[in-house]
Amino acid sequence: MNDASTVSATKSAVSERDLLSKFDALIEERANFLSDGRADPINLVMEQVLSPTRAICNGRETLLLGTYNYMGMTFDPDVIEAGKQAMEDFGAGTTGSRLLNGTFRDHRDVETALREFYAMDHAMVFSTGYQANLGIISTLAGKGDYIILDIDSHASIWDGCAMGNAEVVPFKHNDIEAMEKRLKRVPEGAGKLVVLEGVYSMMGDVAPLKEMVRIAKENDAMVLVDEAHSMGFIGQHGRGVAEEQGVIDDVDFIIGTFSKSVGTVGGFCVSNHPKFEVLRLVCRPYVFTAALPPSVMASSATSIRKLMHGGNKRAHLWENSRTLHQGLRDLGFTLGTDTAQSAIIAVIMPDLEKGAMMWEALLKEGLYVNLARPPATPAGMTLLRCSLCAEHSAEQVTTILGMFERAGKAIGII
Ligand SMILES: Cc1ncc(COP(=O)(O)O)c(C=O)c1O
Repeated sequence: MNDASTVSATKSAVSERDLLSKFDALIEERANFLSDGRADPINLVMEQVLSPTRAICNGRETLLLGTYNYMGMTFDPDVIEAGKQAMEDFGAGTTGSRLLNGTFRDHRDVETALREFYAMDHAMVFSTGYQANLGIISTLAGKGDYIILDIDSHASIWDGCAMGNAEVVPFKHNDIEAMEKRLKRVPEGAGKLVVLEGVYSMMGDVAPLKEMVRIAKENDAMVLVDEAHSMGFIGQHGRGVAEEQGVIDDVDFIIGTFSKSVGTVGGFCVSNHPKFEVLRLVCRPYVFTAALPPSVMASSATSIRKLMHGGNKRAHLWENSRTLHQGLRDLGFTLGTDTAQSAIIAVIMPDLEKGAMMWEALLKEGLYVNLARPPATPAGMTLLRCSLCAEHSAEQVTTILGMFERAGKAIGII
């Protein structure tokens, strides 16, 4: 017999294991962190966005120094207009996979724009950069293959490795010798994929791609470079660090995202590999998900084409990065790099407590930066990550330095 009374008796006899209990320590740590009424660094709300560099956050006007809007394209009038027109012409969404009913005119067009931007033969657009790494890495390197990757790689790269089931061999961050040693240990005949990033997003440092790509090729490995934080900004045509260091022709796959310099959302892979198009049939995070809305595709294509002529903006963004880096150093802050290597400047905090206090003091000054902490950061560090925008004016950078000086002195960091 299995009436209501026996079912409830069985339930109370077998006490179910709460699968969320593994997060109890985190729940408690967060409750303690917020207990004295401090602002929550992961719950900031932008109530109104005024421009690529200003927003109303938590009720007050705030300068933005923690977005990935490197080239300031989010409010470009042509980018907005293209999106509006596509929304009117094609509707709000695709309601389907790229492989079935989800490829519209603008999906094709954005892939054409990417081929033009990189001067490469093939381009494949994903719903996010996360999915591009997940899909391409897991599809390229499967059981029996080897992935040699920098230990500070982005979570999407690690997740792509795990999904594909390849042997994963990490090496010390940006260490050319360590990479070579691990490559040489891969068994004869096994497939090899070296995975690198152009700019590492936590510290804002650049990879020595020139040497690493050469060594990978000498050891018969294919190379994938994630240029998420360099596209649009670094390199003569904004193609990234591989372009800047003269090795782009030896890179087999470049991964990128629209959520940074392009100013929209989406991810992509570009390549000259003659068999590249087969990936559309076998890459699960491409096949088994809905294609992005046509408005996002039209905005992205317009933005990418404008970035091809973004030389002046690139020069101004370099100026902003160098001025902020030098200014913070002069004030006595400890930074993640000796010189500005990208549009990301990491300010190293003594610990989480001081980092959180500094983050809040800056917010009260009217400045938003990212508070970054482990596991996202390397070596257990707490960082205030500043990312500059080509639309920041020289006056805004001066204002930002004044805010850092007041907050740093108030908290006792400088
Ligand atoms: C290096 C790197 N790759 C990939 C991604 C994922 O990009 P998306 O935001 O488009 O998912 C990020 C995002 O921060 C990143 O930093």
